[in-house]
Amino acid sequence: MAAFHPNRQSFSSHWLAFTSNRRFHQQPKMVSHAEGIYYYTPDGHQLYDSLSGLWCTPLGHGNKGIAAAINTQMGQLDYAPAFNVSHPQAFELADKLAEMAPGALNHVLFCNSGSEAADTALKLARAYWRAKGRPEKSKFIGRSKGYHGVNFGGISVGGIGGNRKIYGQTLDAYHLPHTWLPENRFSKGLPEQGEHLADALLAILEVQDPSNIAAVMVEPMAGSGGVIIPSAGYLKRLRALCDQHDILLIFDEVITGFGRMGTMFGADYFDVQPDILTCAKALTNGVMPMGAVLASSEIYDCLMNQPGDDYLIEFPHGYTYSAHPLACAAALASLNQLQQPGLLNNVADLAKVFEQAIHELKGLPLVEDIRNIGLAGAIQLTMDAKQPLRHASEISALCWKKGVYVRFGGNNLSFAPPFVCEPEDIREIFARVAEALSDYARTIGTP
Ligand SMILES: Cc1ncc(COP(=O)(O)O)c(C=O)c1O
Repeated sequence: MAAFHPNRQSFSSHWLAFTSNRRFHQQPKMVSHAEGIYYYTPDGHQLYDSLSGLWCTPLGHGNKGIAAAINTQMGQLDYAPAFNVSHPQAFELADKLAEMAPGALNHVLFCNSGSEAADTALKLARAYWRAKGRPEKSKFIGRSKGYHGVNFGGISVGGIGGNRKIYGQTLDAYHLPHTWLPENRFSKGLPEQGEHLADALLAILEVQDPSNIAAVMVEPMAGSGGVIIPSAGYLKRLRALCDQHDILLIFDEVITGFGRMGTMFGADYFDVQPDILTCAKALTNGVMPMGAVLASSEIYDCLMNQPGDDYLIEFPHGYTYSAHPLACAAALASLNQLQQPGLLNNVADLAKVFEQAIHELKGLPLVEDIRNIGLAGAIQLTMDAKQPLRHASEISALCWKKGVYVRFGGNNLSFAPPFVCEPEDIREIFARVAEALSDYARTIGTP
């Protein structure tokens, strides 16, 4: 098949997601091929994939085991109705997730993305309280700078103003402060300060009253918000407060799930047990769209034991593509690889190289903070007074020219390299980013 070259007309026919489309039309960034830890542009320019796609391809691109599993599945069962019918791989995958997840998160609802997982989790929390005879427990608490996708539940609980402000009425949700503190700047790994920030929950409860609150939803560390990591005791404190006030705790592990922090889940890293856990992205190594919501046995049993005839639907929710057979095949193959002995140890070893390499950029112009945990990190830039988000996008564009795809969001450059990198790859990525930063600072006259 001949290669397709978009012209001006096709530029406007594809309205890109979460993109400044007008800028893209002037400076299109296209990839047409990917292999291992690299992307390639249509004219053959090689780029390091420094964010594993969008945090979702830790096992690298073109993974042969996953491709073979999808192919085999395609030959057996391409689609199965998601309602009232199922197929063996869906159960195999649910069993595997239940076995991998911390504690008794033994019941899995499938969906197709992190956003759907977030909204599914929020609906599940409300349904649980209603089934327990407490329907007034319907409000939610999220956290400033939290990201839970783009559906109405997710933007309500999410704490990124720009993602909410043009969409009018949202769900009833209140927000904890974010966990970035100036005194923690340039911390390596977990920051020291900030456990007390969990106590802000008490101030919200004083006004809203726990009897009205269904759940607190947070990411173990805020990924899209700029790899903002809470201090060691913060999530334990949040768990204790939720227990004291009879509030569910939901962890959004769409980024932290499946090894990104060096443990299988963020819950394992912090040794804190949520009642509901959402995941997506690396679940299929980004190859097929899939998300999942893992619920505790307490929640599942409560919904299964509702009074009424057994032909009634216990949780009226689901998607045409819930537990899609091809996604299940991709997920099973990905999780098998992620569970290989040594893989997470390798992540922990690479994380040390990553920590050293990213922190070497301290002291470069415009660098205001650097944070890292496992194989995730961010470089926070000073804001341009007139155009606050300009530096990050311009530096990312320069990195592209230097052969590194770098994700920017707000005033952060974010990094989450594939687990299959070599230590030299990580050093090379940051050497090129450092060059881009210095070149850019020179062009704007910053010493
Ligand atoms: C923590 C978190 N939750 C939810 C989402 C939304 O996932 P999706 O883009 O697959 O809808 C993301 C995406 O980055 C995320 O980081």
